[in-house]
Amino acid sequence: MRIGILTSGGDCPGINATIRGVCKTAINHFGMEVYGIHNGFRGLLDDNIEQLTDRSLTGLLNMGGTILGTSREKPFKRRASGVFSEDKPAIILKTIRERQLDCIVCIGGNGTQKTAAKLMQAGVNVVSIPKTIDNDVWGTDMSFGFDSAVTIASDAIDRLHSTASSHQRVMVIEVMGHKAGWIALYSGMAGGGDIILLPEIPFDIHRIGDTIISRLKKGKPYSIVVVAEGIATPDGKKPAQYIAEEIEYETGFETRETVLGYIQRGGAPTPFDRNLATRMGGYATELISKGEFGKMVALQGNVIGAVDLEQVAGKLKLVTEDHDLIVQGQRMGICFGR
Ligand code: F6P
Repeated sequence: MRIGILTSGGDCPGINATIRGVCKTAINHFGMEVYGIHNGFRGLLDDNIEQLTDRSLTGLLNMGGTILGTSREKPFKRRASGVFSEDKPAIILKTIRERQLDCIVCIGGNGTQKTAAKLMQAGVNVVSIPKTIDNDVWGTDMSFGFDSAVTIASDAIDRLHSTASSHQRVMVIEVMGHKAGWIALYSGMAGGGDIILLPEIPFDIHRIGDTIISRLKKGKPYSIVVVAEGIATPDGKKPAQYIAEEIEYETGFETRETVLGYIQRGGAPTPFDRNLATRMGGYATELISKGEFGKMVALQGNVIGAVDLEQVAGKLKLVTEDHDLIVQGQRMGICFGR
């Protein structure tokens, strides 16, 4: 079999480990040929494809980013006029046919899963693997990239405690996560955040102020506030800046903000993510070897399985207020905004 592999959407630690897991298993165990498609789905439009060999896979396990490159190309997305700028789907199908690719492995987040489902509906054999630091892909308990981002964000939050207490300040840190609050929740709890704001839980600034003041009265004249980038702010104000300004106005505390940004997407994957990537990559080739297409590989409990791609496409996995980390945090006096 000849399989194509592409990486699409935001990069994250663990993508190269996944490429390694797919390719080494396909080549060494199943005797397949693997072709790397560069820059996400754009590589199928540009016919920018090259065969991957064992040599091309050296040193990938702990390498950040993606050796294939990525893009946010959405070839099935119609223009405002309702038609494609050129017939991208036809170009993609022609490339796959001429390259004699029997299956395409799509590694990506929500957007990628949607495109992979449309590719499948167009008659292409597809297996996808969930990838995103946001952990918001429906159908899998976790995606690789998330543990690495949480590790980076937790370390950053740890570092804010000393400067907050030294200056008796409130330190606000904004973390990524798109429309979901998973990174803020997990890193906020791991980093000892006093206030954690998630897009899924509307916040009351007065409640936040009360929490900061009550800490002061308990002899803690400083606080750490962890803010998910997707929280609602008036007039699209930048979350960390908006929350810091509101806190300073509400409490009189000196407040500073940090936006962690793309640091959360860089560098080597954690060991957990390396092994999750390896497990998912290997399982994808197992599905291909059995002719089980139209599936997304998924972590279910501690078992690697698969879900129908059509069930996943277009769905977001968001934090629910009854999550045990939230319930436990509230019982410990951590404020989630209300
Ligand atoms: O999906 C991963 C992510 O880092 C989000 O957390 C963030 O909102 C978005 O990508 C940023 O997109 P871009 O890389 O296109 O700026």
